[in-house]
Amino acid sequence: MKKAKNVLITGGSSGIGLAIAGDLVNKGWNVVSLSRSQEKIERAWRERPDLKEKVDFITGDVSDLAKVNKVNTYLEEKYGVLHGLVNNAGVLTKGTIETISLDDWKFTLDINLTGPYLLTKTLLPMLRRAKGASVVNISSVAALKPGTSVGYSVSKAGLDMLTRFLAGDLGPYKIRVNSVNPGLVRTHIHLDNKVIAGQEAYEAMLDKARPRYPLGEIGEPDDIARMVAFLLSDEAKWVTGSIITVDGGVMVENDLIPPKPQQE
Ligand SMILES: NC(=O)c1ccc[n+]([C@@H]2O[C@H](COP(=O)([O-])OP(=O)(O)OC[C@H]3O[C@@H](n4cnc5c(N)ncnc54)[C@H](OP(=O)(O)O)[C@@H]3O)[C@@H](O)[C@H]2O)c1
Repeated sequence: MKKAKNVLITGGSSGIGLAIAGDLVNKGWNVVSLSRSQEKIERAWRERPDLKEKVDFITGDVSDLAKVNKVNTYLEEKYGVLHGLVNNAGVLTKGTIETISLDDWKFTLDINLTGPYLLTKTLLPMLRRAKGASVVNISSVAALKPGTSVGYSVSKAGLDMLTRFLAGDLGPYKIRVNSVNPGLVRTHIHLDNKVIAGQEAYEAMLDKARPRYPLGEIGEPDDIARMVAFLLSDEAKWVTGSIITVDGGVMVENDLIPPKPQQE
């Protein structure tokens, strides 16, 4: 029997990360999830009781070098080798250049950009040991087209360049590095980060966004998880340095095409 491969997912306690964890468990991976708060881990257990015993949920902060070093020690002792790293943990802040505070700017870049840098750098010896590892960075369409938050868009654009740089840098170690750039996906990110004022306002925001998606739907976390599983697998052994949108077509939105008559 083939030995199970080990993967670390940052932010595996919620939304897209939790869906990735579930999908990879079903595909036979040993899954470790790293996130900050015990509350969100317990919420994850309520949402996915099937994963409580199957995912190794640990706490720590991707933007804190001392905590990342602790994670490295834990993984070294328990697993010794890492075949996959999914840099998924992320936060959302509001603001244009005139309204974003320096604290929010730094907070966003620390978690969304410095986090993946710290994790990849610290865990590199364990990734090299796999002799064929895959790193997937969860970016956003906001990296490719300015969104509503300057801090968020810039952090994700930086992440995409980290992907491209590392693909060249780490290719000789047989480590592949790719970005997955989701469009709008239903998760906890907007409410948990208080960028929207409650469930009703959130549903209204989704309703407003939906017509911009050529496929007529916003995303589900599993839509992203399946692409991540592919990029982690040997099926993707010649894919590296790619920035891959999974977005229901929102990046090719073209409001000059006349709308279609109402579909059944
Ligand atoms: N949902 C969307 O529409 C969408 C669209 C494009 C891209 N994305 C990207 O997809 C990724 C996942 O987002 P999501 O929508 O699933 O968000 P989510 O439901 O809010 O989940 C975010 C996860 O990241 C963890 N996290 C946040 N800061 C962390 C830190 N400093 N260290 C460790 N863990 C941390 C959170 O747990 P703790 O708070 O307990 O740490 C949580 O588990 C993010 O990178 C996001 O930017 C989302």
